[in-house]
Amino acid sequence: MGPYETHQYDVLVIGAGGAGLRAAIEASSAGVSTGIVCKSLLGKAHTVMAEGGIAAALGHVDERDDWRVHFADTMRGGQYLNNWRMAELHARESAECVRELESWGAVFDRTQDGRILQRHFGGHKYPRLAHVGDRTGLEMIRTLQDHGIHQGIDVHMECTVVALLKDGERVVGAFGYDREKGRFSVYQAAAVILATGGIGRAFKITSNSWEYTGDGHGLAYHAGAELIDMEFVQFHPTGMVWPPSVKGILVTEGVRGEGGILLNNEGHRFMFDDIPDLYKSQTAESAEEGWRYTQGDKEARRPPELLTRDHVARCIVREVREGRGSPHGGVYLDIAWIKEKLPNAAERIKKKLPSMHHQFKELANIDITEQPMEVGPTTHYVMGGVRVDPESQMSCVPGLFAAGECGGGLHGSNRLGGNSLSDLLVFGKRAGQFAADFAKSDGGARINEDEVEEIARRALEPFERAADSNGESPYQVQYQLQESMQDLVGIVRNEQDMLRGLEEIERLRERVQRVGVQGNREFNPGWHAAIELSNLLTVSEAITRAALRRKESRGAQFREDYPEKDESFSKHNIVVQKGPEGEMQVRDLPILEMPAELQQIIEEMQ
Ligand code: FUM
Repeated sequence: MGPYETHQYDVLVIGAGGAGLRAAIEASSAGVSTGIVCKSLLGKAHTVMAEGGIAAALGHVDERDDWRVHFADTMRGGQYLNNWRMAELHARESAECVRELESWGAVFDRTQDGRILQRHFGGHKYPRLAHVGDRTGLEMIRTLQDHGIHQGIDVHMECTVVALLKDGERVVGAFGYDREKGRFSVYQAAAVILATGGIGRAFKITSNSWEYTGDGHGLAYHAGAELIDMEFVQFHPTGMVWPPSVKGILVTEGVRGEGGILLNNEGHRFMFDDIPDLYKSQTAESAEEGWRYTQGDKEARRPPELLTRDHVARCIVREVREGRGSPHGGVYLDIAWIKEKLPNAAERIKKKLPSMHHQFKELANIDITEQPMEVGPTTHYVMGGVRVDPESQMSCVPGLFAAGECGGGLHGSNRLGGNSLSDLLVFGKRAGQFAADFAKSDGGARINEDEVEEIARRALEPFERAADSNGESPYQVQYQLQESMQDLVGIVRNEQDMLRGLEEIERLRERVQRVGVQGNREFNPGWHAAIELSNLLTVSEAITRAALRRKESRGAQFREDYPEKDESFSKHNIVVQKGPEGEMQVRDLPILEMPAELQQIIEEMQ
């Protein structure tokens, strides 16, 4: 077949963050040949941006915690749009996954008696986040990499997958190219796991680095899979806002978990002004009570800075819009104030938040042990993703699995901080296990050479348009899309803006047809950017259409034209492609009825 490198695996994993690595380890442990393709260098993944910890009900700091409380917290945080079975599996299995990670060499901060230490995070009732300072995601990646490297897994770094290959209904592999030389490769596989992470690069301000262009979402959608609840995009409340070159970089929720408070330009602690009904009984009534909570007083309730991310982000936007923001369009996050409370505050901040201390010193010339930080919301995570079976993580396309951020369902309308890292472990493992089973029972599949030729031809089209003086720059199209998604489909949405957003997406689709790139296939970032536009447009359209259809405010979706939650929208939005050339369609899916025993847990926890 063609001038392509070919590789053959039982299981192919696309993406090498926490979910991809965990899936590959599981698949290869099950005795099947496993390959990983990743767009970047191994270890460079958004997983490292989950800095503050892994949520797991170990009960080391507060023995009242167990999987039931974690389950109820996750469901409440997601405003009951979560797939309850995924939330149950996640809550039941995450503690074991953390212990397994520890047994593979992960280092954690410790309690006085030597157990894994856990810290407070937004929406979690008890201190639940196993952590190492503010570098937990990094430690997870390091551990999984070290463990995985000895498993005989093939790793193809700096390769972009441009399409999945199918034989009839089922997936049989993927087609991609290496970013250095531009050489095409065919990866034949009995099962494919998508673990490509998120979509942050569809927005202008994001904590996501260049890799996160919705590749897994786009690949799955074009292969016939369903996307679920794409409207729910998480804007993490605290990203850097200054200097401009670092706008969007994450400031971990761990700062608030360690006692950091949010202030407006009047020095007012505005988070006390608006407490959602769902959390009233769990929220501190005074600064003193909130402080005692962060210091481990079991009778105290959480400070309002540790309400869920959707709510905190909206409160920050309100302060800025009403003229009470900081000079660069954010608010103040102050951890230095704890000096009033602790004699060794500066040392404690440096110990618990070393990366934040370093990040602000190096990038903004701010010493966070002395001065407040300026922060504002940043696009961080998408709750929506490929619709999968909760047990196996297989999509409706046979042989196609998805795990981690690219899979949907667990987090409902809003994810609790720290639940991403446990999600990667629990469902990465499950995807690996079930994909291996699928591959073992595989009856053999055939790569269609014509399909491969056609994908290769389309991938090279931008070169043909290079000579055309009307050729569009891929960077301009991407920039325009990011601006439009940020302004029209951002934290606060309304119908008029989103309809304009859709029109803009249509215009950009036309412009993509004219995108041209100069040069050849070697080291050609313009070509990479041109190829990524298709997925970016697909996810942007899916987010916008689903958000338009949900005429209510819930979790991460806030509609100023429908500011209340509306029970008639207690259902999912499913995005599908109608036909090979067909337009995008969104339809409803009722919420699965929860079994009585889980219902009872939720009621008891309230
Ligand atoms: O704020 C953080 O450390 C991010 C954690 C997460 O997204 O889970």
